[in-house]
Amino acid sequence: MTAPLRIAIAGLGTVGGGVLKALQLRAHELAERAERRLEVVAVSARDRSKKRAGDVSKAFWHEEAAALAGSEADVVVELIGGEGGSALALIETALANGKHVVTANKALLAKHGARLAAQAEKGNLALKFEAAAAGGIPIVKALRESLIAHGINSVHGILNGTCNFILTDMEKTGRSFAEVLKEAQALGYAEADPALDVGGGDTAHKLALLASLAFGTAPDLKHMHVEGIAHITQADIGYAREFGYRIKLLGVARRVGGGIEQRVQPAMVRAGTPLGAVDGAFNAVAVDAGEAGPFFFEGRGAGEGPTASAVIADIVDIALGSFEPAFGKPAHTLTPLVPAPEGTAASAYYLRFDVLDIPGVVAEIAGRLAEAQVSIESMLQRGRNPGEAVSIVMITHETPQLAVARALKSIATSDKVLGAPSMIPMEMG
Ligand SMILES: NC(=O)c1ccc[n+]([C@@H]2O[C@H](COP(=O)([O-])OP(=O)(O)OC[C@H]3O[C@@H](n4cnc5c(N)ncnc54)[C@H](OP(=O)(O)O)[C@@H]3O)[C@@H](O)[C@H]2O)c1
Repeated sequence: MTAPLRIAIAGLGTVGGGVLKALQLRAHELAERAERRLEVVAVSARDRSKKRAGDVSKAFWHEEAAALAGSEADVVVELIGGEGGSALALIETALANGKHVVTANKALLAKHGARLAAQAEKGNLALKFEAAAAGGIPIVKALRESLIAHGINSVHGILNGTCNFILTDMEKTGRSFAEVLKEAQALGYAEADPALDVGGGDTAHKLALLASLAFGTAPDLKHMHVEGIAHITQADIGYAREFGYRIKLLGVARRVGGGIEQRVQPAMVRAGTPLGAVDGAFNAVAVDAGEAGPFFFEGRGAGEGPTASAVIADIVDIALGSFEPAFGKPAHTLTPLVPAPEGTAASAYYLRFDVLDIPGVVAEIAGRLAEAQVSIESMLQRGRNPGEAVSIVMITHETPQLAVARALKSIATSDKVLGAPSMIPMEMG
């Protein structure tokens, strides 16, 4: 066997602890796979006194993560997190010092990925990040290496387990978003500061990486519509159920009109389809790979076991000397993302209007939709409270987003319509 691969791990929390533990528990089998021993020679975290998932006694402890870049390691594994700060400084210095890098840090890569990929290539080094998008699901490798023959038309999916857990629980229990979020935080399923998850930012980071791998473009957060789930109500969930749909927070990237549309948005997904059946904290990614056909990946997107699995797969590839450019093609050939012309992407839409229950209100809404070339496939009106508020729900035929937005703007000016209408796209399953 060749010399051991020497590994330095920065960050020994959920992911780092899991990596350390699995490298130790499965040392023999992994050495066979990697054709050499995988040896953790150095580690760093903030608090040395904390108990870790694996044994750190044999590795050199560094107080400063940056020091790992100067250690004897061949590979630096960055599992600290954060889009800049210590994590970025460590990765830049490690690459500058000729060390391969593995990271699970989607926030950092979505912002600096193209530049770091170029730096890695210049040094003939690996920059690998399987755990950064959809955790344990091997979607990065699939897009980077496996589904390349025919080109990719779209990649979309459920990329944030916290949001899917909250939406699933809201469906099951009938509780509000705020109530379910509070409980998820108490149970440790949601961060104390949930903004990145429930606001859609975490999904956006992952989508930027998947879109880059799928379309050969540099990761791009600027040309992306990002919405979270805080505005989803029990009324919307209930109507979705009546129409045979479920509400999921999706990241969608697809080719439209010569450009790429990227959006993170709650969407109606048909119940019973593979995507519509993804429950709780699970993740799923659907890929339309041209003539290769549609593919669907489902699995755990977070947690110690799944993320350690992805990080270790990257480490073993490096041990075997098998590494491609970070985003599948040389960094200098990654093109800037050309956004799809605004509002041209078409989809069917779910629309909900809270209106005064007075004669003529449905006709007025239907008229304004027709004026904007939006046609209705089905409609539902529940209850009658003459003179008071009722909801009218409509499902449109496939329509460009711009036309629906124009219609809603006009409808919102009506004195019969109360508050802002709700608009949720219907997605393929
Ligand atoms: N958790 C998941 O399921 C998951 C899934 C996919 C990707 N990721 C990504 O993986 C990365 C790590 O996430 P995590 O959940 O494992 O985080 P975590 O549990 O909060 O662990 C972070 C670790 O980094 C250490 N740390 C923080 N600042 C440091 C510094 N300046 N120098 C050295 N060590 C420092 C912490 O030390 P102490 O332990 O001493 O406080 C801790 O061990 C993030 O980029 C995250 O987005 C996580």
